[in-house]
Amino acid sequence: MAFSFRAPAFAGALIALGTPGFAQTDVKIGYALAPDSHYGVAAERFEEVVTENADGQFTFTHFPSSGLGGEREVIEGLQIGTVEMTIVSSGTLANFVPETGVFDIPFLFRDLDHARAVLDGEIGQEILARFDDVDLHGLAWGEQGFRHITNNRNPIETPADVEGLKIRTMENPVHLAAFDAMGAAPTPMAWPEVISSLQQGVIDGQENPLSVIVSVSLDEVQDYLTLSGHVYSPAILLVSKPFWDGLDDSQKQVFETAAEEAVIAMRAYVDEVETSGVETLRERGMQINELSAEEKANFQEAIADAYDGYYDTYGQDFVESIVTYQ
Ligand code: PAF
Repeated sequence: MAFSFRAPAFAGALIALGTPGFAQTDVKIGYALAPDSHYGVAAERFEEVVTENADGQFTFTHFPSSGLGGEREVIEGLQIGTVEMTIVSSGTLANFVPETGVFDIPFLFRDLDHARAVLDGEIGQEILARFDDVDLHGLAWGEQGFRHITNNRNPIETPADVEGLKIRTMENPVHLAAFDAMGAAPTPMAWPEVISSLQQGVIDGQENPLSVIVSVSLDEVQDYLTLSGHVYSPAILLVSKPFWDGLDDSQKQVFETAAEEAVIAMRAYVDEVETSGVETLRERGMQINELSAEEKANFQEAIADAYDGYYDTYGQDFVESIVTYQ
């Protein structure tokens, strides 16, 4: 595995080796988090499986820690073929495939098993297939875990505690509507700007799953963590459609198997950090509280207006079919 932080000049470079007629394709893979995050672990596993099964036809260059820019820019790079692959959150996905926004609705999923079953099942796979219409190809849904709120202003127990809170949200209309409805002052922002904005006090807080809070050491810039679990955070393994269309069937099969294995590794990382993360962050000095079921219900009530909008956009029956999915 090679790591790089430079933007690439050309994608899919064919590197001729000593043997005549043999060429390797370099796959540039960009992601927002560090090599020891759930994204890094998945990217590494992906590379391992491809390397084991594709007779040296592919090499990989990793661009971790937003080395290729924000998630939206990287996805646009895939569309025009300057980057081959990425692992991203659902943050900006609805700009490309609007239907994905349904998975960003707060309090939609009961737990990780529920979310995984929907994403791996017919609903998730049907939406995954729609990326082919926009010069992208979805290999598999991954995940980050449930998102929680961190901030520097005060502990959060009731919706009144987020009143006026300058909270960074992803550039995602579904999340924005929820924090607006709660009376916060949501500020959509690309991830590469978040840490410095927290340091400079431009924003008071942000929300992300434990996988991110721990691997990015958000405790260094945030005092309070509220285990709100207000929304599940899917991730996705995407490849460039121009790149995908250039693969033959056996290469596509190798990539699909690698994606399955990468998701297993990513979910195992999330399972582990969901168990150990709170203790780790407490030891690092964060002040942590967990919302009880009753407190969560108050937040659910506070975003009732946003839910009306979600029903208008995605259809109440469709949203409810996900909520009640067994
Ligand atoms: O908050 C976000 O934008 C995403 O969760 C992150 C941290 C970039 C991981 O995809």
